[in-house]
Amino acid sequence: MRPIALVTGGNRGIGRGIVLALARSGFDVAIVDLAESDDTRETRSAAEALGARTGFVAADIADLAQHPPIVAAAWSFGGRVDTLVNNAGVSVAKRGDLLEVTPESFDRVVGVNLRGTFFLTQAVARRMLADAPGEAHRSIVTISSSNAVIAAPERAEYAIAKTGLSMMTKVFAVRLAAAGICCYEVRPGVIRTDMTRVAQAKYDKLIGEGLTPIARWGEPDDVGAAVATLAQGRLPFVTGDAVNVDGGLHIHHF
Ligand code: NAI
Repeated sequence: MRPIALVTGGNRGIGRGIVLALARSGFDVAIVDLAESDDTRETRSAAEALGARTGFVAADIADLAQHPPIVAAAWSFGGRVDTLVNNAGVSVAKRGDLLEVTPESFDRVVGVNLRGTFFLTQAVARRMLADAPGEAHRSIVTISSSNAVIAAPERAEYAIAKTGLSMMTKVFAVRLAAAGICCYEVRPGVIRTDMTRVAQAKYDKLIGEGLTPIARWGEPDDVGAAVATLAQGRLPFVTGDAVNVDGGLHIHHF
């Protein structure tokens, strides 16, 4: 039986890279995203061409009332969920001075990236615990960011939310280990997606000047490869830890 993954924000970008890597690794995939679009259809047909069954749930993870329907739809898709991938996230509407961050921007970014992600994880974990363990490795993989550890004063609310996800991963790892559910954090660096398009020239320059030891943009497939490795249980004695998918960006060096 194919393992089942639930991937938030799977329509495009890193989420699409994750859906395709999981499909390639033998998973069926249920995607959660804000709305069905051409992006959804493109991602689903690419995953299906790789042999996966796919499902789609339109939902906003920041709205906690939508979590029970997400869980119900995911479980009716495959009878169980073996892997949750918390990928959905938003950046700040405008980068700027930390001293000018508004409560509205803080609430929006933290509401999706941390609050929504935490409570969806809680809802999925409760439902996973109600299932008898199957043959597949069970895990919760959370996409944070290099900004979980690298300070970004021009996107303070984003970095603060992502740091929260590091601790979220650890506390769920402790709570769920006895049930055989491992929790991992994946920290992407600079990845080529719609989210980073606004800062493309800046990152082109920085990468050219040596920002990352591996001197190129990351691609969604780079993140997908890490998630698929973890979700398949190929690091079986690891939980609560972070994998940096950043070309070495996090390494202090001179
Ligand atoms: P993106 O903007 O291209 O894609 C994000 C996807 O999440 C979209 O399909 C969007 O509709 C969906 N989404 C957003 N808010 C949602 C919500 N409330 N409910 C359901 N779905 C929602 O972004 P990208 O670059 O693919 O980012 C994916 C994740 O990776 C995010 O969590 C982001 O913070 C993280 N990340 C991205 C990096 C990059 O360089 N692109 C670097 C580090 C982390």
